[in-house]
Amino acid sequence: MSCVSNNRLVSNRASSLSGTIPIPGDKSISHRALIFGSLAIGTTKVRGLLEGDDVMCTKNALVALGVSIHRDDGGIWHIVGVGLNGMISPAVPLDLGNSGTGVRLLMGVVAGQKITATFYGDASLSVRPMARITDPLAKMGASITSRDGGLLPVTIRGTGDLMAACHCSEVASAQIKSAILLAGLNARGTTIVSEPHASRDHSESMLRHFGVSVTQEFKDDQSHRVHLADGASLRAADIVVPSDPSSAAFAIVAALITPGSDITLKGISMNPLRTGLITTLIEMGGNIKKSNQRIEGGEAVADLRVRQSRLRGITVPPDRAASMIDEYPILTVAAASASGTTEMLGIAELRVKETDRIKVMAEGLIRCGIKVDFDEGSMRVTGSNVTGGTTISAEHDHRIAMSFLTLGMNSEAPITVLGCETIETSFPRFADAMNQLGASFSDERTL
Ligand code: S3P
Repeated sequence: MSCVSNNRLVSNRASSLSGTIPIPGDKSISHRALIFGSLAIGTTKVRGLLEGDDVMCTKNALVALGVSIHRDDGGIWHIVGVGLNGMISPAVPLDLGNSGTGVRLLMGVVAGQKITATFYGDASLSVRPMARITDPLAKMGASITSRDGGLLPVTIRGTGDLMAACHCSEVASAQIKSAILLAGLNARGTTIVSEPHASRDHSESMLRHFGVSVTQEFKDDQSHRVHLADGASLRAADIVVPSDPSSAAFAIVAALITPGSDITLKGISMNPLRTGLITTLIEMGGNIKKSNQRIEGGEAVADLRVRQSRLRGITVPPDRAASMIDEYPILTVAAASASGTTEMLGIAELRVKETDRIKVMAEGLIRCGIKVDFDEGSMRVTGSNVTGGTTISAEHDHRIAMSFLTLGMNSEAPITVLGCETIETSFPRFADAMNQLGASFSDERTL
């Protein structure tokens, strides 16, 4: 039986987990493979693309913008690039569903072409801030209208005459950086983006993979600066998408907190700007061993063996936040099962993710019997017995849904999660894959 078609799942206490769990392709790299492939000259082939809802929204939007994209019988995606100026105005508004990455990166694409597109999304995406993208794009010369407060729907009238930006972002955000770089591909002059800490650099790596010269400076004060010269063109390339460390995180924490567990995950991306959670869990006492470290499709990957461990609370420093920004919900689950208190600092960006992740995780954990306190940009979780026995709403946030299902594995009474269809955005067949390891997720309570 497939569990993931149900929007309500019950997570019962699990016995030990064992075996190898397949982890789907990296979401960030999948969006970028489709987008950069669309802007290239020639046909790009992508293996291991994440076929989740978010990435399919980006694919559908690119098709509406005039790009031909298809999947062959062997699961390889073929993108026939239209070059940097070859897109057309879509006949209908573009629905980016739940995907912040999809909508924000595509805004950068449209801004630099002589086309007009309107973007909208689901209830969650409709209340996420877009001015952080639209303000710099407007400064570069695009005409932009949005709903009050800089929210979706947003309409962008692009121009073939953008001016390059020198943008200094207040937050470390790969979405802001990537949107400006994408617009910069069609701008006059050198585009420079700086950020207070380095956010994931998949756009930079992939641009180089497509033959574009991009330089990155990692400064002593931890800031990061990216330069993109004008006059670039992209040459089609083959891409192999590694497994997503943000999706692997749920199985890793599940194995650490479930007695007797010993699991393996293969081909997980080890991009250092994505591995903050692994560093943190090892500092907490987690038994996580990397092996077979290698480069696959230009990205560092490794296999991981994870065994149940006695975790202890630590302080996670603010300068680590960018490298594990999507992993704080599942880290709070590990913290709930650790001895002592885990303190997470510099995490205000969690307030503007698919939901307000500080508030939703804190309130849910408290209902499950865990002591939590939090303020605008930090959170403290003190480990204890997880009582559970409650129902949590996913709030259109896949990582909230997967985090509370994982918490239920170590809970005295089952935890029910509503809205589990959102998991399809990043981890299709999550419940089935976890059940294969030994989890007990079902649409019924077990006695
Ligand atoms: C992403 C960047 C991150 C992350 C998101 C994916 C990306 O957001 O939260 O899930 O693919 O660029 P930031 O813009 O905060 O870095």
